[in-house]
Amino acid sequence: MSEREGPVRVAVLVSGGGTNLQALLDALHDSPTARVTHVISSRPDTGALARAGSAGIPTTVLRDPGDPAELQSALAGAELVVLAGYLKLVHPSVVARFRGRMINIHPALLPDFGGPGMYGRRVHEAVLASGAKESGATVHFVDEEFDRGAVIAQERVPVRHGDTAETLAARVLEAEHRLLPKVVLDLARRIS
Ligand code: GRF
Repeated sequence: MSEREGPVRVAVLVSGGGTNLQALLDALHDSPTARVTHVISSRPDTGALARAGSAGIPTTVLRDPGDPAELQSALAGAELVVLAGYLKLVHPSVVARFRGRMINIHPALLPDFGGPGMYGRRVHEAVLASGAKESGATVHFVDEEFDRGAVIAQERVPVRHGDTAETLAARVLEAEHRLLPKVVLDLARRIS
């Protein structure tokens, strides 16, 4: 055990509504292990920024999400980085700095149904079109490609007869909200 003090500082990168961010805020707000300390958005006016504001967490809106220097500086002080509905590819220099300490949540069972363009309802439409009997949530380490880093954990959900992209997305999202805080706490324990 090292001599570090306080919970592991978690920065969360977002682009959208922020329900996964909310799951983290709820699970970690009084945790001795990990705490959300900064929320960084690739866009202004996201639901995620409003959630961070309500929780009193400092936020940054990136002026240019493609600028690695801006992201590097926004991540100063972060020990663990969570991509929770973040739609931009992370620059390799930032990936390198946080290798093994940067994770992403994806709404399908990777390595299937991931990669460039596979986000939002497209993922669930592809799962339904494939005839798969199961889908789920995946948390994986971030590397230089979309959705390709090593898988850390998955939670499976059934695909039900008559599912639409919306009903399947809602079932997977519930699994995401259970899985993500668990993985963050596990990783934080290993870091601290
Ligand atoms: C989630 O389905 C997540 O897996 C994906 O984007 C969605 C974000 O939802 N990467 P939210 O912003 O956390 O509500």
